[in-house]
Amino acid sequence: MKRKWKSAWVIGGSTGLGAALVRKLAVNDVLTYVSARNTEALEVLKEENPSIIPFPLDVTDPDSCVHQVTNVIKANNGLPDLIILNAAIYSPMGVAKFNAKEISKMMNVNFLGIVNMFSALLPHKKTEKQVTIAAITSPSGWRGLPGGIGYGSSKAAVINLIESMKGELDGSGFDLRLVNPGFIKTRLTDKNNFKMPQLMSPDAAAVKALDGLSGSKFDLCFPNPFLFYLKLLRILPYSIYFWLMKKIVDKKKVL
Ligand SMILES: NC(=O)c1ccc[n+]([C@@H]2O[C@H](COP(=O)([O-])OP(=O)(O)OC[C@H]3O[C@@H](n4cnc5c(N)ncnc54)[C@H](OP(=O)(O)O)[C@@H]3O)[C@@H](O)[C@H]2O)c1
Repeated sequence: MKRKWKSAWVIGGSTGLGAALVRKLAVNDVLTYVSARNTEALEVLKEENPSIIPFPLDVTDPDSCVHQVTNVIKANNGLPDLIILNAAIYSPMGVAKFNAKEISKMMNVNFLGIVNMFSALLPHKKTEKQVTIAAITSPSGWRGLPGGIGYGSSKAAVINLIESMKGELDGSGFDLRLVNPGFIKTRLTDKNNFKMPQLMSPDAAAVKALDGLSGSKFDLCFPNPFLFYLKLLRILPYSIYFWLMKKIVDKKKVL
């Protein structure tokens, strides 16, 4: 970690990438607040390192978001230097498994959860210091991918939300960032039934994310070259893009 944050808050930090971020920050002497629904998992993290302080939270509950923002500000004497919006859920979904309830759940946690957090955080934007707020998004939000119905939409919505707010918030004290990791081995990707290129451990992904956040780049993407090629998909004309997607659909035979 190149930059020294004094304090950080990871929302969605009980497992996977979030827990790895919490551990990495805390061993680097960053006072680390952690939120998620699973209070037992948060207590386990706290026992590992006294620099980890749990604030249980369900991001789908707007009142709880306001309540915990107030509590963290009180505990930290102001907002933490780094806030990572990491909470998300995932159900793999192709057309054959199209499920409005599941899509609604993913939108509710992955997108509206971040909306709820911003609604609670924005009244505090005129901070004396700079507060970096990073949303963990996904390349599935860059362009629609087979098998990613709903999840990709929720991530595209997050990217669009952050892009929409960045211009107005620059100079306000809130420094907005996007973190787009490739595949990470967690309970989330354990649901995938295909080979995931350049699969990372949560630890490796946390190191990459924190190194990137130490710098000033808005849109962090790793690992390469996988993410470089995925990013190229964004600028392909639809005719070539759908020709490629059809090949993936035929090969996967899961949709
Ligand atoms: N794994 C990948 O390959 C990959 C790739 C690209 C992007 N991402 C993104 O990286 C982030 C972390 O994913 P992961 O793979 O580490 O998944 P994970 O292990 O399932 O972790 C998700 C975290 O979100 C929390 N969460 C879920 N619903 C919540 C809610 N309603 N309120 C508060 N917290 C909630 C979970 O805690 P509780 O269940 O305790 O609430 C957990 O701590 C996600 O944003 C994901 O979309 C993952």
